[in-house]
Amino acid sequence: MPNHPYFYGADWNPEQWPESVRAADLDLMRQAGVTAATVGVFSWSRLEPAPGAYDFSWLDRVLDGLHAAGIGAVLATPTASPPPWFTLAHPDALAQRRDGVRLVHGSRDTYCVNAPAYRAASRGVAAALASRYAHHPAVVLWHVHNEYGTWCFCDHCAAAFRGWLRARHGDLAALNEAWCTDFWSQRYGDWAQVLPPRATQYLTNPAHELDYRRFLSDSLLAAYAEQRDVIKAVAPEAQVTTNFVLGGWVPVDHARWSGQVDMVAIDHYPSSLDGAPAQSAFAADAARGWSAAAGHGGEWLLMEHAPAHVTENGVQRRKPPGMLARIALAHIARGSRGAMYFQWRAGRGGAEQWHSALVDHPGPGTRLFREATALGTRLADLERKGTFLTPSVEEGAPLNPSQVAVWFDEVCGWAIGASHLPAPVDYQGIVEGWHRALWRRGHAVDVVPPAARLGGYRVLVVPAAYLLTDTSARRLAEYVRDGGHLVVTYLSGIVDEHARVRTGGHPGALRDLLGVRVEEFDPLSAGESLVLDSGDVAAAWTEHLTAPDAAVLAAYPDGRPAVTRREHGAGVAYYVSCGLDDAATARLLAAVCAAAGAEPLVPDLPEGVEAVATPQGLWLFNHTDLVHVIGGRDVAPGEAALAASPGAPSPD
Ligand code: GAL
Repeated sequence: MPNHPYFYGADWNPEQWPESVRAADLDLMRQAGVTAATVGVFSWSRLEPAPGAYDFSWLDRVLDGLHAAGIGAVLATPTASPPPWFTLAHPDALAQRRDGVRLVHGSRDTYCVNAPAYRAASRGVAAALASRYAHHPAVVLWHVHNEYGTWCFCDHCAAAFRGWLRARHGDLAALNEAWCTDFWSQRYGDWAQVLPPRATQYLTNPAHELDYRRFLSDSLLAAYAEQRDVIKAVAPEAQVTTNFVLGGWVPVDHARWSGQVDMVAIDHYPSSLDGAPAQSAFAADAARGWSAAAGHGGEWLLMEHAPAHVTENGVQRRKPPGMLARIALAHIARGSRGAMYFQWRAGRGGAEQWHSALVDHPGPGTRLFREATALGTRLADLERKGTFLTPSVEEGAPLNPSQVAVWFDEVCGWAIGASHLPAPVDYQGIVEGWHRALWRRGHAVDVVPPAARLGGYRVLVVPAAYLLTDTSARRLAEYVRDGGHLVVTYLSGIVDEHARVRTGGHPGALRDLLGVRVEEFDPLSAGESLVLDSGDVAAAWTEHLTAPDAAVLAAYPDGRPAVTRREHGAGVAYYVSCGLDDAATARLLAAVCAAAGAEPLVPDLPEGVEAVATPQGLWLFNHTDLVHVIGGRDVAPGEAALAASPGAPSPD
């Protein structure tokens, strides 16, 4: 963990500004209580204006200036955006799209991660930065690259993919078997016939797509690790990370990567203003889960989020007064070592000239900058009082007192996305829906990757775990046997690690545990719904199943089982074969949690109020513009405060 108290600041791009603005920025950062600035992220063309010719003069001044101002530098390697000279010198190192189009410079991320020239140039610039700055007193954390996640389908990738496949599958016979290549006559007779999943006539093979994502994740991870090792070769004590970007489009298995960074760091950009508190809670809980499962104790860092807006369907919705601090503190309460933004100063030009910044185009005399300064003061105060919110999680212990968790596996999301399912399924949307339902009930919720320790959770929800390995299925059965209360939803346990359907009745991997047998999927059209005999409303997905070894809790209108319950060992396994609306989900979770003895942090938490458990006490966040009475105390509109206990809240 970096030897730095807490991180409050932003991406700063001094290379885009004259010295006078840089100097003013340092003064403003001090004024705002900034403790760290991320520098260098997209500065390759300034650092290395010609191959092998470095110009560090400007960065020397920037780092010296930060140090003199008492601000830490999160020093980035600039490899997410190779300079134009690189493109012309190495046309083979540019990313090639699925349809064969070779991209050119003009934006960012125009590289092929498997191109030897790109890797060599990246190592070169990382080594140059490391040898110059590894011992610079301003540097508190290394930030390799930016948001790894670039796709490429070129010949370099094809060759590397074949090597990766050999290591994974052994021989071609095993590959043919794993990928079911007899379908549509795609049997491979020679390794040279295996290509990336490039543009083709019609649907592609889901196993091929899935392995390609895994391969890209490993390729990108190797590129990250190479730079990390270059830095650590010069300064073994250096703390190195990279900023994870969340979203199903990224071919990065963040759970797997978390073991390779010194601190899990995420960027988070919610997709709706009203949904931002719940989405932020999910992202933060996911980051904490990755951190804990990788042995980092649940600590992590919010490396980027937008200061003043949330982009909703292309529209920048402004964050109302108070939201800046509330969202930042809600992340911190969930284990973030601070709150960093993109970006410090809004650019005059370039593709993101209209992206908000702590210092926006009008300058510092704004409501936003005043709020940023107030947040800086508040964080400094928390730090002084020794109440800065860093959890320390015992190895294997549940991360929160609610003992409630939601299973989240990005690889499963890839499998769902690659497959031509009976209906389109938004994996992360479903997982977030269950998380949100628990969050609304006032539970602290852990988001756990498949490798997480499960013992200790009273309730575990496994939504749409379409791809479930034999190991995971066994662990879930053990979890229930040992006393856990497991809620499994539709579309779980359907395919194996190669995206091959488990035959004999769904959900193949969990059929015995759940005591049900699904014969048919029967997804509903948009807007269509059914009322179960419990009065609950089912939408999106239904199934035809029998429950040979489970009790029926709710049935479809024709009497077929819809929601079931089976006792196994000391625990209980529930199966929810349909999509449920919010009210039905809440009712089900209330019953399951009550039976499991999993209490919310605050009973009857009002809608729009969020409770977060920290080692220092309970935090309450009022995301509404109403006063709410909690534990006998008024919680003001927009308030974000530490309460000693739900019964006796007191502002921090
Ligand atoms: C992030 C990225 C930043 C900036 C930001 C805009 O994903 O890392 O460089 O582009 O988005 O929201």
